[in-house]
Amino acid sequence: MLYLLDTANLEAIKKAYNFYPMDGVTTNPTLVSKEKREFLSILKDIRKIIGSESMLHVQAVSLTAEKMVEEAFYLNEVIGGNLYVKIPVIPEGIKAIKLLKSKGIKTTATAIFTAGQALMAAIAGAQFVAPYVNRIDNISGDGVGVVAEIVQLFELHNQDAKVLAASFKNVQQVHTVSLSGAHSITVNPEIMDKMLEHPLTDWSVNQFITDWEGIYGKKMTTLDVK
Ligand code: E4P
Repeated sequence: MLYLLDTANLEAIKKAYNFYPMDGVTTNPTLVSKEKREFLSILKDIRKIIGSESMLHVQAVSLTAEKMVEEAFYLNEVIGGNLYVKIPVIPEGIKAIKLLKSKGIKTTATAIFTAGQALMAAIAGAQFVAPYVNRIDNISGDGVGVVAEIVQLFELHNQDAKVLAASFKNVQQVHTVSLSGAHSITVNPEIMDKMLEHPLTDWSVNQFITDWEGIYGKKMTTLDVK
């Protein structure tokens, strides 16, 4: 399982990279706009925080294949590192994914709502496909079911593309797509924290410390007692 953070917020990215085993950051035009700063400087700052080997997924916003390809080359040149250009699965996007594959540029097919869209994007040459779990649920669909179908289709049709499950509103959705065999997830900072939270974990840790300190003294650690 690869863990990615779905945000363009630098403080959130610093925190996640400090504590968690992060593999990358995903952004989209909405997330970048929320930061209300110059686009390139945000992306360059993110690259500085995560380093050149960590994945950074950045979305192209053009609506024609030729322009998407141009954006993809530009983003690779100015941001650099392990970059994936997110391309929506509209017809022009599939064309762009094919062109970019032939030119050795890595892509993530995005705005995926059906397993069929994911399969076509993978066959076109995308390295990742990003199904939007919660947005599917919100139109009375089965987001985790779509992810499970994509995993199954990729196995059946020998596709190397990886599933980057996206758009989550709760930890249970993340858990279920992980069980279905999704290769990677991208979650917002709040869900990243919540994935670790459990009241009984905190209770147990407090109990251990109380018992320990009762015998060995306050603030003492295993380094201080013989
Ligand atoms: C994925 O690539 C998108 O950035 C994202 O996960 C969409 O999430 P949302 O539905 O919470 O906006």
